[in-house]
Amino acid sequence: MKQNNPKIFSIILAAGKGTRMNSNKPKVLHHLGGKPLLMHVLEIAEKISQNTGVVVGHKADLLIESIESQWIKNLKQAPIWIHQEQQLGTGHAVKIALQQLKQHIEPQDIVLILYGDVPLIRHSTLKELISLCHNHPLVLLSALLEKPKGYGRIIRDKTNSVMKIVEHKDASAEQKLITEVNSGILATTYEHLENWVNQLKNDNKQQEFYLTDIVALCVSEGGGVGAYCIEKEEEIKGINSQIQRAELERTYQVRKIKQMADEGLGVADFNRLDIRGNLSFGEDVFIDIGVIIEGEVVLEKNVTIGAHCILKDCHIGANTIIKPYTTIEQSICGTNCIIGPYARLRPENTLKDNVHIGNFVEVKKSSIEKNSKVNHLSYIGDAHIGTQTNIGAGTITCNYDGQNKHQTDIGNNAFIGSGTQLVAPVKIGDNATIGAGSTITHDVKENTLGLSRPKQTEITNWKPHTKS
Ligand code: UD1
Ligand code: MG
Repeated sequence: MKQNNPKIFSIILAAGKGTRMNSNKPKVLHHLGGKPLLMHVLEIAEKISQNTGVVVGHKADLLIESIESQWIKNLKQAPIWIHQEQQLGTGHAVKIALQQLKQHIEPQDIVLILYGDVPLIRHSTLKELISLCHNHPLVLLSALLEKPKGYGRIIRDKTNSVMKIVEHKDASAEQKLITEVNSGILATTYEHLENWVNQLKNDNKQQEFYLTDIVALCVSEGGGVGAYCIEKEEEIKGINSQIQRAELERTYQVRKIKQMADEGLGVADFNRLDIRGNLSFGEDVFIDIGVIIEGEVVLEKNVTIGAHCILKDCHIGANTIIKPYTTIEQSICGTNCIIGPYARLRPENTLKDNVHIGNFVEVKKSSIEKNSKVNHLSYIGDAHIGTQTNIGAGTITCNYDGQNKHQTDIGNNAFIGSGTQLVAPVKIGDNATIGAGSTITHDVKENTLGLSRPKQTEITNWKPHTKS
């Protein structure tokens, strides 16, 4: 290829129905690691190329709407959507794409074909593949597989040169024994590709226009086809069923978690952690089994996450311990906190350093200052709690009157006795004490005891009811 620095244009094929998923939504919208398959491929395409086109067909409107409304913000550049009304084969998909991309590509630009349902291809592999374009008019990514069933086979001659690709369904018994398979991923120039896809025919078992037939066309024109053969099957694995999706999910998780472990993350078991987003971590962080990390999560140094916690979009300060079965969403925890077991932090909480939240405590849209504790069976919603304050077991901030939410403000060094209801809006001053079992409907001033407990009644010689 003559041009010194040709641009690279990625075309992602994603028009197929994905029948074997047995699902109502387009295959490439199914998730891997918390994001659509197509987003994985779009992100890798963005790394390797200057521009990307995506061929869409089955439920195209739903697919585009979903990607554009929720995911496109993660990309530097929006892709160009290419509509393939009828799915007549991979060769047809590329032909339609080239027609629609004409004004965006120069003849000498490199076109890289990727698959929307092959999400684990590595950037380094694609770089190697493209570097071969300097010496070959067409380069393929192939792999040696123990179980090549279903894939197109690479046919080589006696001198080991690539001659053609035969699809599994069209292969002879002898060709089916070949273990070098076509990944589908390839690179060539726009002008070559345009020339070849215009010559494709659909005289095969599936009556489809096979993109793979461009290999034989290239050879017939005297071109040497380059094949970059990789050993890791995971990189070229496509997802066609829910089983394959789940298998590749684990592959993806283990790959990602091992990379983090290599950078110092302590994990109990690679197979029992799921990261569906981005995790940043400091030194000596440890994550026990069954944990799910979603969105953007930051764990500062020495944080411990107990078994079966779910952490979504949160920041956990250094030395904090999150005990088992705790759920934290959109919240910030300071340093040296102890949260859980079985705590639930709903969105918009800020907990300062050394705060303790214990079992069966739900906290929502609240801020809790340093050294304060809510240790048992409480609901804290729309509240501010000062420093050194202790909230007794079973305290409820009654924040909702059926129409509106109201604020509860509790000062520093306050003591809220067990079984208290704080009917918002209400303020409890610094150093105030609330007697256990109170229903507090008015503000309680600082240094004051607030008590609304009815006087105890005792009826002597009481006989318990007997069964009639
Ligand atoms: C293709 C290759 C095969 C290779 C395998 C690797 C061809 C003819 N065969 O087979 O050699 O081993 O991938 O996984 O290319 N698509 C469209 N429009 C269409 C048809 C397909 O966009 O009209 C998209 C699909 O959505 C999918 C991709 O192209 O993302 C591959 O199509 P698929 O039908 O799955 O090809 P395979 O039979 O798997
Ligand atoms: Mg396929």
